[in-house]
Amino acid sequence: MSTHLEAEENISGTQRRNATLSFRELIERLESQSAPPTLEQLNAWLAQAEISREDLSSYIGFKEGNYWRHRVCRNRFVEMLVLCWRPGHKTPIHDHNGSHGAVKVSEGVLWETIFTYDQDQGLGYRSVRECQAGEITGADVPDIHQLGNPEVSGQDLITIHIYAPPLGVLNTYKVGSSVIDLYTPDDSELLA
Ligand SMILES: [Fe+2]
Repeated sequence: MSTHLEAEENISGTQRRNATLSFRELIERLESQSAPPTLEQLNAWLAQAEISREDLSSYIGFKEGNYWRHRVCRNRFVEMLVLCWRPGHKTPIHDHNGSHGAVKVSEGVLWETIFTYDQDQGLGYRSVRECQAGEITGADVPDIHQLGNPEVSGQDLITIHIYAPPLGVLNTYKVGSSVIDLYTPDDSELLA
C-alpha cells in the first residue's frame, strides 16, 4: 500500500495534492484498515492531514473538572478521538497497555511528560516536552506519559488522537511508587 502511495506521490505535479489528507480522507483511511496501522503510519497520516476547526466542530465541547473525549471513529484496529481541555486539565500518568498512539495539536499548547518505570525504583520523571498547534507527538509501547493543557497556558487545548489498536483498560502510575493501577477511560460521555 505504501509503495503504491509513494509511486503516486513521485508523479511530477501531483506530489502536493497527494501529500495532503483531508479530515474525511483520514477517517476513510482509518475505517478501511484491516490490521492495526504502525506508529510510523499514524504519525505520517497526522502529518499529512489538514484539519480545520470547522472539520472538528461536531467533536468540540468542554466541561469543567476534566478533559472531554469525543470519538470520531473506531473499528477493531484503530480509533480516532478529539480531546478538549481547559487550562489545568491533564490525564493520569498512564501507558496504553499494548496500543500505540499519535497526537496532533489542533489548537493551544500540549505538555507531555515522559516517565521511566523500574520495579525496584518505581515510577520516575524523565523529561517534558511542549507541542504547539500543528505539532505531533507519538507514544510507542511501553511508553509511560501524562498529557495536559498547562494551567498557565491561558487558553483551551484541542488535540486529535489516533490509537491502534483502540484503547481498552490503561495502566496508571504514581511518581515514586511501583504500584500499577488500572484505568478505563470514560466512554459514557462520548458524543460519537
Ligand atoms: Fe496517552
